[in-house]
Order: sequence, then structure tokens, then C-alpha cells
Amino acid sequence: MLNRRTLLASVPALALLSHAALAQDAPTKLQELMGELNRSMRSLKDAGKDEASLAAALETVRRLQHVVLDAKSEEPPLLADVKDPKKQKRQQQDYVAKMQQLVQELFDAENAILAGDTKAFDKAMRAMNETKKAGHDEFKPK
Ligand code: HEM
Repeated sequence: MLNRRTLLASVPALALLSHAALAQDAPTKLQELMGELNRSMRSLKDAGKDEASLAAALETVRRLQHVVLDAKSEEPPLLADVKDPKKQKRQQQDYVAKMQQLVQELFDAENAILAGDTKAFDKAMRAMNETKKAGHDEFKPK
């Protein structure tokens, strides 16, 4: 039976539970960075349509270079579950390599903007989407 006493006694337990739930729901730094990357990539979708849109994308592309460099220093969550140390090391190197590749593609996008080259910009965007797919296939929890 729920009476005043049992209700009051359960308050600290409820507080603990909700704290645990909140902690569990808080996004990790990598998730936050990925979220920003995602929103910005969407905003860049049509930047290659003409030179004015291209020029307006410069600030976002430069900001994303920092975001991806930050993401490169994070540990993808699946890595901790890899038991074989050699395999773990290989995957860690591959994670870093993919992030480096993404930064390089952002440099390519920056160069395309500075040159006013919409085709080269679209090419860099396609390459980034391929790198995203490869990175998610290997490292993103299902
Ligand atoms: C244009 C490139 C990319 C975009 C737009 C993108 C976008 C996203 C989004 C929206 C999420 C879900 C975040 C969440 O759960 O709140 C995510 C998660 C993730 N991405 Fe990416 N991503 C990109 C590239 C990459 C690359 C290259 C890698 C690996 C080298 C990668 C690794 C991951 C991992 C490990 C997660 C899961 C993080 C976690 O749940 O802790 N992503 N990404």
C-alpha cells in the first residue's frame, strides 16, 4: 500500500533514478560534434548551385574543419568492445585516418569556394558523404 511514509521514503531513490536517466540521455561530445556536422552539411547542400551561394558557405566550411578535428580526438564507442588489442589498434588508426580524410575533403571544399568552382565544391561534398558512409558502416552503433 502506498502511504505518506513509503512515498516520502522513495523520494531519494526517484531522484537518483532520474539523475541516472538524465546522465544516460546526455549526448557524448562525439554525438554533439556529429550533430553539428550533420546540420551544417545539410545547410551546405545547395551551396554549389551558384557562385554567390558558394561564397556564403566559406565560414561554415572553415568551422567544420575544427569540428572534425575535434571529433578525430574522440573515441568512437564501439572501440572499447573490441577484445583483440591488435584489431583495436587497427580500428583506432582507421578512425583517425577517416577523420583526417574528412578534413582533407573540407580543405578541398574550401579551395573550391576560394576558386569559385562550383563543380569542384560538389565533388568535395560527394566525397564527404562517401567518407561519412564508410565511417558509419565501421564505427557507428546500429
Ligand atoms: C559528413 C560527415 C558526417 C556526418 C554528417 C555525420 C553525422 C552523424 C550523425 C547525425 C550521428 C548521430 C549523432 C547522435 O547520435 O546524436 C553520427 C554519429 C556517429 N558518427 Fe558520424 N557523421 C559523419 C562522418 C563520420 C565519420 C567520417 C565517422 C568515423 C570516422 C563518423 C563516426 C560516427 C560515430 C562513431 C557515431 C556514433 C557516436 C555515438 O553514438 O557516440 N561519422 N554521425
